[in-house]
Amino acid sequence: MKPKPLIAGNWKMYKTGPQASELASRLKSLVSDFTEVDIMIAPPFTALGVVAEILKGSPIDIGAQDIFWETEGPYTGEISAPMLKAAGCSYVIIGHSERRQYFGETNQSVNRKIKAAVGAGLVPVVCVGESESERESGQTFSVVQKQLEEGLKGFSAGDLRAVVIAYEPVWAIGTGRTATREQAQEVHSFMRNRIRAACGNSVANALRILYGGSVKPENIAGLMAMEDINGALVGGASLDAESFAAIIRNAIEGL
Ligand code: 13P
Repeated sequence: MKPKPLIAGNWKMYKTGPQASELASRLKSLVSDFTEVDIMIAPPFTALGVVAEILKGSPIDIGAQDIFWETEGPYTGEISAPMLKAAGCSYVIIGHSERRQYFGETNQSVNRKIKAAVGAGLVPVVCVGESESERESGQTFSVVQKQLEEGLKGFSAGDLRAVVIAYEPVWAIGTGRTATREQAQEVHSFMRNRIRAACGNSVANALRILYGGSVKPENIAGLMAMEDINGALVGGASLDAESFAAIIRNAIEGL
């Protein structure tokens, strides 16, 4: 049986507190009846509090876009797992390609962050994916495999039950160039098989692997129909309540 899908919205560095509160309210009114999939949105840190207040009692979960691995201490500008939990988060996105590209995130820092999240009972959404030149030079599988192996180093099969993976090919993010569903399926299936080899069937079968990169209402159903695609991590199209709701609706139709 396939795991329950997750449709997640990564708001990136968009929306002030008041704007976030408007978007979250609108979304709540549009998607509260959809129970076939789990729904999560990840607003910027500064809007977590207000969004959590609005979404109380709704089926929409909240995630953060990053985390620091220490619990507390003199780490100016950082946010810890207990802080995220207290702010209402149940998920946290870790290792997004934009953090790898602009903020020096490495597989090693990703590994420490995942440990902190899992240890605190937050569900990490671990992002992996190849760049355009890596794909063109035939390195897609080796890049993704390294990101997985180093990012998830030291985790038990039990820990992996609390992890979500997001495959986000860098060339498909924010470009309007979605990976074809066959391209995505091929990488998802490869990753699930790596996890199967390391942790066994039951963990691999229960693992949620999301696709991210120019997901829109028009392409989500086709993606969701693929065997190893268990949801989506949506950027731009999650910033508009109607389009995010349409993605969720169409995702359910594609199941
Ligand atoms: P877009 O949906 O805007 O391509 O962004 C994808 C993404 O990076 C989600 O984390």
